[in-house]
Amino acid sequence: MAPFLSLSVIFLLLQFPFLSLSTNPEGNALHDLRSRLSDPNNVLQSWDPTLVNPCTWFHVTCNSNNHVIRLDLGNANVSGTLGPELGQLHHLQYLELYKNDLRGKIPKELGNLKTLINMDLYDNKFEGKIPKSFGKLKSLKFLRLNNNELSGSIPRELTHLPNLKIFDVSNNDLCGTIPVDGNFGSFPMESFENNRLSGPELKGLVPYDFGC
Ligand SMILES: *[C@@H]1O[C@H](CO)[C@@H](O)[C@H](O)[C@H]1NC(C)=O
Repeated sequence: MAPFLSLSVIFLLLQFPFLSLSTNPEGNALHDLRSRLSDPNNVLQSWDPTLVNPCTWFHVTCNSNNHVIRLDLGNANVSGTLGPELGQLHHLQYLELYKNDLRGKIPKELGNLKTLINMDLYDNKFEGKIPKSFGKLKSLKFLRLNNNELSGSIPRELTHLPNLKIFDVSNNDLCGTIPVDGNFGSFPMESFENNRLSGPELKGLVPYDFGC
């Protein structure tokens, strides 16, 4: 019995550091994302959770302080859902998930990404509402949600984003009126086409969720 027991102990000791090394919160968040996704092209193969941080993983870019600033999984043939863990990427500037087969709701926790500049979720199968929490994305310049299955109205909170330059929600199932406040006055009508939107709102006259 003794040799068997000592082998078991060695096995446990070898396994324990393997499990305990993944203490990097951003690496954990990305690994949680990986566990949600089906990845037939193996683009996530380099995402090894035993490394100290995710900075050497393909499709992940870090700054000089080893914080994740880019996630580049556009056109990667991944499918599945997103979870709240993406809200842990507190230094993220570029979230590129366009042209995949992503489904389900857009997590409201993405609204915690205060440094986000560019969010590209277009050409997927996201459903449900555009999170109101996106009104907290004060650094956001580009928000492309077009070609999904999003419903509900355009959150009025988005009109308070000071840096938003490009906003595209075309080809969804959105309802209500098109806001005209803030930067929304300057977005072209093509950004809103192919929805159930009922045209630009008249200030104070038309309820903005009219017809929803
Ligand atoms: C995407 O994945 C599917 C399997 O889910 C596969 O059949 C298809 O060839 C892949 N497409 C590309 C462009 O790699």
